[in-house]
Amino acid sequence: MKERLKWGILSTAAIAQNVTIPALQESTYGQVELIGSRDLEKARNVASALGIKRAAGSYEEVIEDPDIDAVYIALPNSLHAEWTIRAAEAGKAILCDKPIAVTVDEATREIEACTKHSVSLMEGFMYRFHPQTKRVQELLASGAIGQVRDVRAHLSVNIMRELDPTNIRYQKGLGGGVLLDMGCYTVNISRMIFGQEPVRVTATGHVDPSLGVETRFAGVLEFTGGFASVSCSFDADGQGAYSVVGTEGMIDVPRGILPGLGSRVPEGLVIIVDANGGRREEMFHQTNQYRNMFDAFSEAVLNDKPVPILPGDSLKNVKVLEALKSSISKSAAVAV
Ligand SMILES: NC(=O)c1ccc[n+]([C@@H]2O[C@H](COP(=O)([O-])OP(=O)(O)OC[C@H]3O[C@@H](n4cnc5c(N)ncnc54)[C@H](OP(=O)(O)O)[C@@H]3O)[C@@H](O)[C@H]2O)c1
Repeated sequence: MKERLKWGILSTAAIAQNVTIPALQESTYGQVELIGSRDLEKARNVASALGIKRAAGSYEEVIEDPDIDAVYIALPNSLHAEWTIRAAEAGKAILCDKPIAVTVDEATREIEACTKHSVSLMEGFMYRFHPQTKRVQELLASGAIGQVRDVRAHLSVNIMRELDPTNIRYQKGLGGGVLLDMGCYTVNISRMIFGQEPVRVTATGHVDPSLGVETRFAGVLEFTGGFASVSCSFDADGQGAYSVVGTEGMIDVPRGILPGLGSRVPEGLVIIVDANGGRREEMFHQTNQYRNMFDAFSEAVLNDKPVPILPGDSLKNVKVLEALKSSISKSAAVAV
């Protein structure tokens, strides 16, 4: 058995350069071998800055390279399906950044291609690989707060403070909008915590008139056990927080998605409040949740085991996102 997966990177995306390539380079079971860009010069510059052995002037060259075992897809959302399917056809294992697809149809086709070609596929929900998330799951499973009745999940990063209208997040045709970009986490968290799929959703959003995509979003997911309220925004700075209310207490995770984003010091905090108001805080050591994610994925692929976030789960997430999107236009106006 190989000791490490050889990775190819699709694009010179900001997230790849600043966060995920360095995380992969720190990982135990992966090594970055090749980076591909539509522009060879750009790929060469990034390869040289980050110490990557080889650079390619197209994504095709990366997926067709016989020496590459796995690809990391950091493309605009609208290209996730196309390149996941092409990488599957080339026999590569795939870690595709969130959201795995823009539509249910795309996600379904991705899964069909990966199943047909027997390759692993996982969506890059890195927050799942932070020990604080695992602790929350453990607390819920042990009944620490009884049965879950309510989840509140919020993610916002104020990228509109210095508006760059060319940002992929503002391009409708590239799968832009805050629901897919940030709402995908809040939906994922809600589904993870309830351990079920919502039966009904309702939503509202603010479409920025000059950008043409929703820049603020709020929704409610109805589960059989209770409700989740989710919200996200491109023009606020709440970062990523969630809380869970159960029949016997509550759990707060104030940096539940991007611990240390502001300070660049990744750590975590879980606050547990019991039914009598007793409060306990659990702090976590610095960790790189992206590195943990790549290691968990690589280890699964190397050992021919199921990946930690199954593609079927990602499909369910996209189903909820699609339902929320279609619900935005149906919200009723208040008579004033
Ligand atoms: N997990 C996380 O924490 C996290 C954080 C941020 C972003 N993301 C996800 O990562 C992906 C990339 O996000 P990003 O903010 O890093 O994006 P970005 O900096 O804008 O990079 C996107 C890259 O895609 C390539 N690309 C191909 N066709 C393009 C087109 N028509 N327009 C623009 N770029 C095109 C470009 O690479 P080349 O020029 O090299 O071909 C570009 O550098 C998104 O899916 C996003 O949701 C995840």
